[in-house]
Parts: sequence; structure tokens; C-alpha cells
Amino acid sequence: MAGEPVNVNEFQELARQSLPKMYYDYYTGGAEDQHTLKENVKSFRRIIIQPRVLVDVSKIDMSTTILGHKTSAPIMIAPTAMHKLAHHEGEVATARGAAACDVIMGLSYMSTCTVEEVASSCNAVRFFQIYVYKRRDITALMVHRAEKNGFGAIILTADTPRLGRREADIKNKMIAPQLKNFEGLISTEYVSDKGSNIEALAAGTFDASLCWKDIEWLKSITKLPILIKGVLTSEDAIKAIEVGVAGIIVSNHGARQLDYAPATISVLEEVVHAVQGKVPVFFDGGVRRGTDIFKALALGAKAVLIGRAVIYGLAAKGELGVKQVIQMLKDEFELTMALSGCCSVDDITRSHVKTEKGRFI
Ligand code: FNR
Repeated sequence: MAGEPVNVNEFQELARQSLPKMYYDYYTGGAEDQHTLKENVKSFRRIIIQPRVLVDVSKIDMSTTILGHKTSAPIMIAPTAMHKLAHHEGEVATARGAAACDVIMGLSYMSTCTVEEVASSCNAVRFFQIYVYKRRDITALMVHRAEKNGFGAIILTADTPRLGRREADIKNKMIAPQLKNFEGLISTEYVSDKGSNIEALAAGTFDASLCWKDIEWLKSITKLPILIKGVLTSEDAIKAIEVGVAGIIVSNHGARQLDYAPATISVLEEVVHAVQGKVPVFFDGGVRRGTDIFKALALGAKAVLIGRAVIYGLAAKGELGVKQVIQMLKDEFELTMALSGCCSVDDITRSHVKTEKGRFI
């Protein structure tokens, strides 16, 4: 590629050039046939934007408020694992990129920098994602560390009782490094005779018995608001509200868990209707363009989380790459707003997009 990357796909190409194959495959891949992986991106293309003209768009305000935190745009960094495999500064670089762009940083439970390192490296608003370990005491300790270090919310990932079957990781014998947060607590260096060591790590540590009643336990150990990540149906959205979560993230884990789960953008509206405005609904999966962000907001999302695109920036150029990717998405989103006749995020409505029923999934 000649010159600087001009879109997220070009950052992906730079990431491919700079990463060992094992890591690139880990970051890009999805589960099994990767049907849902392709659909996450393709389903956005089936949504058409219906712009309004002759609106004064000389000033565009992308800012919004997420769980009481003012942010420059309806964009958050999705929690994704092991950033040091992409860049030696790891999640610290990602968090600094988020801070520079004034967006919220989601830190993964499976991070390669500690919650303390990330907290002290920047002043980004930070949310901490958790998996619940069989050793609940360890998960409780992690939640307390996040709370003590000024994180603003807990994101409970609900779609991973077991790890999805990611065939590239099986073939590459994907490594499971020691995760720094757990140093001195447990070893995370699992070795599998079946291929993916990451899968062995999840099988050895994740609590597959976790269910709705356990949200009470989580609420009993933290005062932080809880977001539940991985909801794809109206039934689960209603249950989430019943157990008292502060928000819902419509997500299929970047298509890395259940293949043939729906593309997230195809079920967003169903979840939004079920929630009836009681809590904010967030969205992730397949966001590669500012137009995608606009479409998700038009279908009722409060904000979107960005997973792979941020990792591509990190792998290509470290903190600078994270900044450039977020800025690129912000610029594209702002332009989309202007060309659609929307001056603020509240101006983006359902009537700004057209979906073809039946062709969505
Ligand atoms: C993830 N995701 C994820 N989710 C989570 O709750 N905890 C985690 O540790 C991870 N780790 C992770 C690693 C990698 C390499 C990817 C690509 C994804 C899922 C992530 O939060 C988000 O749901 C998706 O990445 C969103 O889809 P896009 O933006 O990658 O298409």
C-alpha cells in the first residue's frame, strides 16, 4: 500500500504486514465457518442511509453522555484480549489513544497490562470487562481492583461459558501467555493437546455454570454500574433489565463464539424495542466505517464499541495508530452526520435509515 492508510481496511493490511501469522489470525478470526464474521460486516451494507438536505450543518456536535460520562463521540474501545501481542506497550498504548481522542476505554479481563498500569497511564474514562472464573474469589478481587483504580463500570461478558471454536487458533496452536493481572494468583499459561491453548485456558478457568441469578452476586460485590455484553434477543434483554443491569451491549463477540448467531446489526432494533428506553443499549460487531456508527445509532444504539479496528491501529503504529483509527472513524461519522442533515447525535433517527426486512439476516 502506497502512502498513509485512509480507512480501517488499510490499517488491517498494515497490521497483517506487521504481525506474526499466529497473532494476526487470532485477532482477525471468527468461529468455525466464519459465517457470522462475514455477516457482521456485510449486514451493514444492506442498510441504506436516507439523508435530509438543506439543513444547516455548519456545526456538528458528535458528543454524547455514557453512564454519566461526557464523551467526544458515541464510540468506545471494545474490550479485547492481549494487546501486547499486537504492540509491546499493550493496553497502556490503547488507553492513551482513547484518552487522546476523548473516548471510553474498555479493558479486557484478559489484558496483558494490569488494571493499575492502565489506570495510572492516562486519564481516559475506563470500563472493566470481566469473565467469571470458577475461582470466584479471583474475579471478585479483579472487580475490587478495578473499582479501587477508578474504573467507571463493569462489563460482564455473558456469551462465553466456553470458548468458541476458532480453527485458525487450533491450527496455529495459539499460545496462552501469563496474563499480568493474575500474576501471583494463578497461572494462565495453559498447554493443550488439542491445539488452541487459549481454549484450554478458558476451559480451565471460566465458570460455565454462570447464570442470571449470579448477577445478584456481582451486584453484591461492587457498587459500579454493570453492563451485560452479548445479548442478541429480546428475551435476554428483558431478563437483563429484570436483574437490574445499567445497560446492555448487543454483541456476538465479534463472531468468535457461536457461528450462525445473527449479525449484530440485524438484531439491534429488536433489542432496543424490548428495552423500551429503560437502560441504554450499546452495540458492537463489524463497525469499520463512520456510516456503520450512524446506522447503529439510527437503529437505537447509544454508542458503538470498536474491536478489531482498534487492534489494527495498535498493531500498525502503537498508540499513534489507535489514535488515527479512532480519529478516522470520528471524522467519517461527522461527515456522515453532515451529509445526512444531522447536527447532533439526537438528530439521528430511525427514519434516517432503510432496512430491507427479510434480507437482513
Ligand atoms: C474480542 N472480544 C472480547 N470480548 C470480551 O468481552 N473480552 C475479551 O477479552 C475479548 N477479546 C477479544 C479479542 C479479540 C482479538 C477480538 C477480535 C475480540 C470481543 C470484542 O469485545 C467485541 O465484541 C468485538 O471485537 C466487536 O467486533 P469487531 O469490532 O471486532 O468487529
